Amino acid sequence: MAQDDKFKKLVSHCKEYGFIFQSSEVYDGLSAVYDYGPYGVELKNNIKKYWWDSMVQMHENIVGIDAAIFMHPKTWKASGHVDAFSDPLVDNKGSNKRYRADQLIEGYMDKIEGKINKEITKAKKRFGDAFDEAEFRKTNGRVLANLEKFEAVRLRLAAAMTNEDMADLKAMLQEYKINCPVSGSNDWTDVRMFNLMFYTQLGNVAGEEGKLYLRPETAQGIFVNFLNVQKTTRQKLPFGIAQIGKAFRNEIVARQFIFRMREFEQMEMQFFIKPGTQKEWYAYWKEYRLKWHKSLGTPAEKFRFHDHDNLAFYADAAVDIEFEFPFGFKELEGIHSRTNHDLSSHQELSGRKLQYFDPQENESYVPYVVETSIGCDRMFLAMMSHALQDEIVPDAKGKDSTRTVLKLPPALAPNKCAVLPLLKNKEELTSKAREVFDKLKIHFKCQYDEKDAIGRRYRRQDAIGTPYCVTIDFDTLEDNTVTIRDRDTLEQIRVAIDEVADIVSKKVDMKHLLAAF
Ligand code: GAP
Repeated sequence: MAQDDKFKKLVSHCKEYGFIFQSSEVYDGLSAVYDYGPYGVELKNNIKKYWWDSMVQMHENIVGIDAAIFMHPKTWKASGHVDAFSDPLVDNKGSNKRYRADQLIEGYMDKIEGKINKEITKAKKRFGDAFDEAEFRKTNGRVLANLEKFEAVRLRLAAAMTNEDMADLKAMLQEYKINCPVSGSNDWTDVRMFNLMFYTQLGNVAGEEGKLYLRPETAQGIFVNFLNVQKTTRQKLPFGIAQIGKAFRNEIVARQFIFRMREFEQMEMQFFIKPGTQKEWYAYWKEYRLKWHKSLGTPAEKFRFHDHDNLAFYADAAVDIEFEFPFGFKELEGIHSRTNHDLSSHQELSGRKLQYFDPQENESYVPYVVETSIGCDRMFLAMMSHALQDEIVPDAKGKDSTRTVLKLPPALAPNKCAVLPLLKNKEELTSKAREVFDKLKIHFKCQYDEKDAIGRRYRRQDAIGTPYCVTIDFDTLEDNTVTIRDRDTLEQIRVAIDEVADIVSKKVDMKHLLAAF
């Protein structure tokens, strides 16, 4: 299936099966804002739990907080967001559509990369096992020319972004003939910076004083609480503070479903360290976070590191963990070495000391910070896009049939188990099934379903990712046994009812994932 079709299928699957709905759909929706449905919220909560447990529960030197969304307006002045949290915006005069200039140029770079990959795929086919990709990249004329072009655009874009050179961004759109995807025209307005923070007004306080921003990142709630947490938990450096919460950005171009939203959720951890040790901690968290992603069974080739060309105003090193979404490799998580920028700025603007007394060095200093920051919604999209598959499987008569299956890691699946009486209109089967359901629901999230033929119910559970289906049939009434069907292998085993909770728990418990760390 073409990547575009795959993505469309994913979006409609999310709606059809109650994972994600457009916000305020009855009013034709609100752009780039989404609601999570009954299965979506379960999957999202499981993702959050896995992140929380692997960061907080698994590290005795990481603790959690839940800070308010509203913060004192000075927070955002100190952090730099008021002055520098902006994207370069450009309008096309032909279509009146608005774009991010940097994203248009990145799209152009993607096209160059696409040409390189096309040459490589062709050569792979031609040379078969003897193909040496590294050598081909070094020697093929067309590939070399495109690599050179790509690098030149990359460096120019990075310089223009770092220096906020809006004129050069416009010049790039014109020189590279990057046209509006809607009108096809190259007639662009000047590029200008647009601040991404939403704001509202506090009570009856007028003007700048009462301007309340909706936080664009959760991190600042951690920074301003650094000393409160350090003192109350008596942590010594290095230690981390983790938080999961909503963030808001007035994204200019909000597309690609839940990839880029105006209201989204972040899972962030700030790791406070001794100045001078940032390189080693940056390397540590880079590897740890990649390991976390791979622990969910997603193949390693779906991820890659991408060093930032143009560092955010607060960072001295930054890398993205990119995931291969249906629309290509894109940022899933960021690991940033933020120096002491945030704590120092808050210290300066608030006039309060935000320092750590190091008993070994017998001195106080402002700690450095390495942060890991992942969007919960992007993680959701990554899991869904890898898990959703169409598969040919034998039907009840042994003939090939296609099933849509969501192969989520069992620990993250919305339902762990479905309890299904073989027939709906046999009271002895349904009451026994209810009994089994009541026994299992105290162990994990279960669903009772008696509607439709059993084959259709299996397919429905496959489509929402339920790893195990427990079926109550006429043998159950005789000997108190049931069948457990495995979503992935389709194998069915017959076991005593009293064994089901243990068998399923062993397969779906998150602790097996945590044990890998
Ligand atoms: N505290 C650092 C920070 O906020 P970021 O790279 O701007 O860094 C971190 O954001 C993560 O938040 C991204 O890797 C992405 O997963 C998620 N994210 C950022 N903007 C988003 C948006 N508009 N919609 C959904 N997720 C977003």
